[in-house]
Order: sequence, then C-alpha cells, then structure tokens
Amino acid sequence: MTISAVDVIRAKRDGERLSDEQIDWVVAGYTDGTVAEEQMSALAMAILLRGMDGTETARWTQAMIDSGDRLALGGTGRPLVDKHSTGGVGDKISLPLAPLVAACGAAVPQLSGRGLGHTGGTLDKLESIPGWRAELSDEEIRAQLAEVGAVICATTPRLAPADRKLYALRDVTATVESIPLIASSIMSKKIAEGTEALVLDVKVGSGAFMKSPGRARELAVAMRDIASAHGLRCVALLTDMSVPLGRAVGNALEVAESVEVLRGGGPADVVELTVRLAGEMLALAGIEDVDPGEVLVSGAAHDVWRKMIAAQGGDPDAALPVARHVEPVVAERDGVLAGCDAYEIGVAAWRLGAGRARKEDPVDPAAGIRLLVDPGEKVVAGQPLLELHTNRPEVLPSVREDVARAVTLVDEPSRERAPLVLDRVS
Ligand code: URA
Repeated sequence: MTISAVDVIRAKRDGERLSDEQIDWVVAGYTDGTVAEEQMSALAMAILLRGMDGTETARWTQAMIDSGDRLALGGTGRPLVDKHSTGGVGDKISLPLAPLVAACGAAVPQLSGRGLGHTGGTLDKLESIPGWRAELSDEEIRAQLAEVGAVICATTPRLAPADRKLYALRDVTATVESIPLIASSIMSKKIAEGTEALVLDVKVGSGAFMKSPGRARELAVAMRDIASAHGLRCVALLTDMSVPLGRAVGNALEVAESVEVLRGGGPADVVELTVRLAGEMLALAGIEDVDPGEVLVSGAAHDVWRKMIAAQGGDPDAALPVARHVEPVVAERDGVLAGCDAYEIGVAAWRLGAGRARKEDPVDPAAGIRLLVDPGEKVVAGQPLLELHTNRPEVLPSVREDVARAVTLVDEPSRERAPLVLDRVS
C-alpha cells in the first residue's frame, strides 16, 4: 500500500490510530525532506489535538531513534545511568549529580541541551567556566566515561536527527505541549545515547513546562511506558518548581552554587534533590551499598567534578565571570516571604541576559539573580531580598518591576514550602 503524507495527516486529524508503517514512513520522510515542513506542521498539530496512544508513541520514538545512530557507550566496566530533567528555574542539579553518581561507582553519560526561554540549559551553565568545551566526539565521550565516570556534553548531530528538526518546528507552530511528542522527543535521545537506566525529574509548577501535577504525571507515565517498551530501566520523580531551586539563577551563579554543594555546603533543597536523585540512579544501576549523602560530604564527588571539567578543557580553579552591575531589590515592608514565583524569576534572569530568545543568540554567563531570603523567613523593610546581576543596566528598572511581582510578602507565616518530591512513578 502506498502511504502519502496527506493520508497520514487526515487519519490523525480524524482521530484514527496511526499504523507502524505510517509512523515509520512519515518520520523517515520528514528527516530526508520527502515530507514537507508544512505537512509535518499539520501532523504535529493533529497529534497535539488528537493525541497518540502508548503503542503509537513507542513506535514514533523508535522511528526517531532510527533516523540517526546509536552511541555505544558500554564497556567502561561501570553500569551506565543517566538523569533527565524537564527543565526549571535554577535547576543546576546535573552539575553536582553527575560527578556524585560517578564517585559512587556508576558511569553517567549526560548528553544535554542549551536553554531556550526562561529555563536555563546545562551546557550554558558549564560554558561559563573558562576553557570548557561542550562538543565532544563519540570517542572522547567514551574515553572520558571510562577515565572519569561522568561526561556532560552536547548531543551529537547523528543522535535522533528527526527530533532535532521536529523540535525546531514544534517550537514555531505551538505544538511543543503535546505529551506524546514531548515524551518521544526526550526518550528518543536518551535511548539513542545508549544509557542502561534513566531517572526522570519531571518538574511541576509555574517555572516548569507542566504547570499541574496531573499533566506532569501523565508525562512521567508516557516516558516510563516508552522506557519499558525499549527495555530501559526507568523511574520518574515529580518535583516542585513553583519556586526556584536553590538561591542562584543564571549560568555562572549556578556553577558557583553547584561547587558549594560539591564542597559539602550549598542550599538544603539543592542538596536534598541531588542526593535523592543520586539514590534513585544508584538503585537502578544496581549499586546498593553506597550512601550518596556520605560520598557528597566526603569530597569524592568534588574530585570527580574537577577531573570532569579539566577533561573538557575547563579550568576548575578559574574565576567565574562577574557582572558589572549588581543591585539589590529590598523589601518594601516588614513581613514574611511567602513565595518567590519561579516563572517570574526565570523571566527576569533571562531579561538580565542569562537566557536566549532564539537558539542562535549568545547568553551572558555573568547575568542572573541571587535570592537572599528563603520562603518562610521574616524580613524587615529595606532588607535586601535578592540581587540582580547584569551587564545590561538599561533593563534594570523594568526587571525590578518584574521581580517585585514575583515576590510575595505577607503578615503571618503561611504554608510551608511544598515538599520537593511530590510523587514517584516507576
Ligand atoms: N525537551 C525535549 O528534549 N523535547 C521536548 O519536546 C520538550 C523538552
């Protein structure tokens, strides 16, 4: 039977299931240009509106994996385990987590992306370290995994190229939010990377893709189901992203905070989530006799961090970039800090220069926000609540207005911060 793009679009538009053959054909055709951009745009919108069931989503993922090559990362003598976060504000967890899990005996291949919009990208953060290089060859990734145990680097061009093209198209056609498309996009890259086990950190709240726990759970279940269909061991945690993680938002500021954590200090929420995710990763990797909390305070993870940075040309002792303008935002009255909205803080940091509007834009490594007060703390009028770091002084007046909206001061302590880990899907 001949398949045509119009028939595939019509079938999904009318709410039908797509067959394996239709999915294989349309994904391969889009990758090689036989299926036009406008046809894939229409299909992506039909999928967003009509959905795909678990079998269709697993096949779609397989077709995206088959559009490129798989990385063979085994043979290091250590179990391979990775973590993926759906992205949030101040989410620097990969930076302490990868060296920590490597220090506990696993190999962590973290192929990562750059940030777009109000959430930061792991590569952007690491690129604030002088000399550090994101692009590695397959051979370099393998060698570093064997020698150091942890690699954080850019995804290679041959890894799920269909996803690279489709993600860019979804970004400009309002079709990013489809759960089967998000799940297959993330999982195709992770399966093609060749990890043996995967822990997913699905963020929930104003600063996340998924604003409600129900949608986040749906995404976690969709990704877990794809993992099972591909024989990948997988656990997902749903974690709070209604307030930023830690006290630093912005590339170099987040690297500095991660190093504090690796030295045994740092904010309690960053430490808690790092250790919890490490525990989940080690359990999936079959490493049961090591306590990641103890390894973190022992300094062993910090040693791996230094090797991991140096192996990619970075100088772990170099000073990080500092912004020319650092200005406090003070409390307008006495009260208790009830909350600090993650989305507003993410957008404010982005406007200070920490993020990019288009994927080709540069980011300013020094720009960002440092939070000086935790939710639940009492403050007095005039006390600095946060610091704005920027090299664009002209944006400061309007960013001040944005952050004033982000911060809520109340008379009485209200609720405690929501628990960091809201749910677990295995
Ligand atoms: N991250 C991805 O890699 N893909 C998506 O579709 C959304 C977030």
